[in-house]
Amino acid sequence: MTASEILLWVALPYITIAVFVTGTVWRYRYDKFGWTTRSSQLYERKLIRIASPIFHIGILAVLMGHVMGLLIPESWTNAAGLSEDAYHLMAVGIGAVAGVCTLVGVSLLVYRRRTTGAVMAATTKNDKTMYVFLIAAICLGLLTTIIGSGVLGDGYNYRETVSPWFRSIFLLNPQPELMAESLPSFQVHAVAGMLLFIIWPFTRLVHAFSAPFGYVFRPYVVYRDKGPHDAGNHAPKRGWEKVG
Ligand code: HEM
Repeated sequence: MTASEILLWVALPYITIAVFVTGTVWRYRYDKFGWTTRSSQLYERKLIRIASPIFHIGILAVLMGHVMGLLIPESWTNAAGLSEDAYHLMAVGIGAVAGVCTLVGVSLLVYRRRTTGAVMAATTKNDKTMYVFLIAAICLGLLTTIIGSGVLGDGYNYRETVSPWFRSIFLLNPQPELMAESLPSFQVHAVAGMLLFIIWPFTRLVHAFSAPFGYVFRPYVVYRDKGPHDAGNHAPKRGWEKVG
């Protein structure tokens, strides 16, 4: 093992986890009021209504793909009767669609930022840096899918190197040699992914931890007027007269 391999595949992952966790706790404690998407929907509605869901649905699917591909060992899917070929076909198909959606979504979001004056004016240096890291991770991820798929060559089964390396970090038994023998495209993507997680707590990406999922399941809010019998004898106030 060379020093740079240890640095990249042992030190960097642990530095990433440490900065991500302590940075998030620090941000939550000291910048609670800055914990926001800093939504720009008020400035522009048309484009964001299309771009934001495309991006967010895409990135959620990408996240699920990473959980499947990196956390679930190949031996488990084999034992469940899913052959490597079938898994590969499914992963590349769904992964490519999810990756393209994410890229199209983020491109539209950046286009909107650049072409809407008010949104551009509300864009900070921090946002721009974040977009560079985010787009780099997405593009390099798509590159790994293309290279791994076999469309351009032999294809590559990253579940024999990248995935066990990823798990080895969390099992506190790092195996840098696995990552060192994988393809350069996967190595560069993994580094880009780790760098994104390092800056994450200090950007608006923190809003991902407070996604309003409860909104989907909350009971309806029922709006109704009191009806004529409850209205009393008062004449309605000016501006509140009944219509129709
Ligand atoms: C250390 C962290 C990461 C590792 C080890 C990793 C690993 C991988 C692997 C192995 C693939 C290929 C999947 C396939 O072809 O089936 C992939 C694809 C991809 N990754 Fe990552 N990734 C990491 C972080 C990230 C992050 C933070 C992003 C977010 C922006 C991201 C975005 C993507 C995208 C867009 C694709 C292509 C579409 C897909 O296959 O889902 N990755 N990644």
